[in-house]
Amino acid sequence: MNTKNIIDQLYREQNLSRNDFIFLLKHFTEKDAAYIAAFARKEAQKIYGTSVFPRGLIEFTNYCKNNCYYCGIRSGNANASRYRLTEKQILSACENGYQLGYRSFVLQGGEDPYFHDEKMAVIVAKIRQKYPDCAITLSLGERSRKSYQKLFEAGANRYLLRHETADSNHYHMLHPDSMSLEYRKECLWNLKDIGFHVGTGFMVGSPYQTMENLADDLLFIKKLNPQMVGIGPFVPHHDTKFRDCPSGTVELTTFLLSILRLMNHHLLLPSTTALGTIDPKGREKGILAGANVVMPNLSPVAVRKDYSLYDNKICTGEEAAECVGCLGRRIESIGYHLEFTRGDYR
Ligand code: 5AD
Ligand code: FES
Repeated sequence: MNTKNIIDQLYREQNLSRNDFIFLLKHFTEKDAAYIAAFARKEAQKIYGTSVFPRGLIEFTNYCKNNCYYCGIRSGNANASRYRLTEKQILSACENGYQLGYRSFVLQGGEDPYFHDEKMAVIVAKIRQKYPDCAITLSLGERSRKSYQKLFEAGANRYLLRHETADSNHYHMLHPDSMSLEYRKECLWNLKDIGFHVGTGFMVGSPYQTMENLADDLLFIKKLNPQMVGIGPFVPHHDTKFRDCPSGTVELTTFLLSILRLMNHHLLLPSTTALGTIDPKGREKGILAGANVVMPNLSPVAVRKDYSLYDNKICTGEEAAECVGCLGRRIESIGYHLEFTRGDYR
């Protein structure tokens, strides 16, 4: 089988064997990438038209009890300058976003025990009450099933928790022994079972990652069948032991976006800030490969540079209004448009 035949098979069957995924990832050419991207755009457009859905991202705490080796806000990084937004600041970021037209908010933070269940549930309930027409997404890492249940009942609709890698040996190369792939997967199944629309995902080109690992990531995602998948290139952070590791590439990231689109035509698939960081046209390239979500920053400008998961992150100096204007123009330049709705899974 050659790569083109494998892509045709993926298009027909929305899945491949592990060996075929590995072969495709190892041998795809520029021509293959253009070929699969055309299928990916066509299928995304059948469901979502040329809409790209913006989610207003509020990075509300960079305290984190975990020490993921790749991440700039890991607990072991004494150089990180730590902040927490107050409830009032979070609500005012939402209000700012609402006025700009956003109907979908993402509250993301490190695993910060300060935002315990009661505190978090109150914040979610206030946002839910004030903006009944908006989708609320949480991205707070691993929590107990009871905690997820409470946040769902408070009014959250969606939850993002990347699995990071579906290979447990690889998982242990990226995380300390206190963390496990098994528990992470359990969290994802709990979230689904409770009724959240779930997003998972992984970094492309993370240290020690192999094409075999990526094939396993794709097969895990097929099994979980999430509504959203977040992937972006690994980008080194200077205060981690992976500081000298190379970034993931645009080529492999966009190729994987196209594969994911063909595996589930309905996916909500962000073209990530990390992709925009390694290439000035990265987010546009992601959309042309089949992505249909962007997540502009709504956090107060004063704290943005401190939510530093990786180096050289874009948009850390821009006002929310500038960002959305800039992104809107970029997206129109490739024949798409921002659709300011909840952007539910269809
Ligand atoms: N490069 C790229 N992505 C990163 N993340 C964390 N650190 C990095 C990095 N150095 C991603 C992880 C996490 C998400 C919030 O950010 O995949 O799930
Ligand atoms: Fe933020 Fe362009 S998207 S400045």
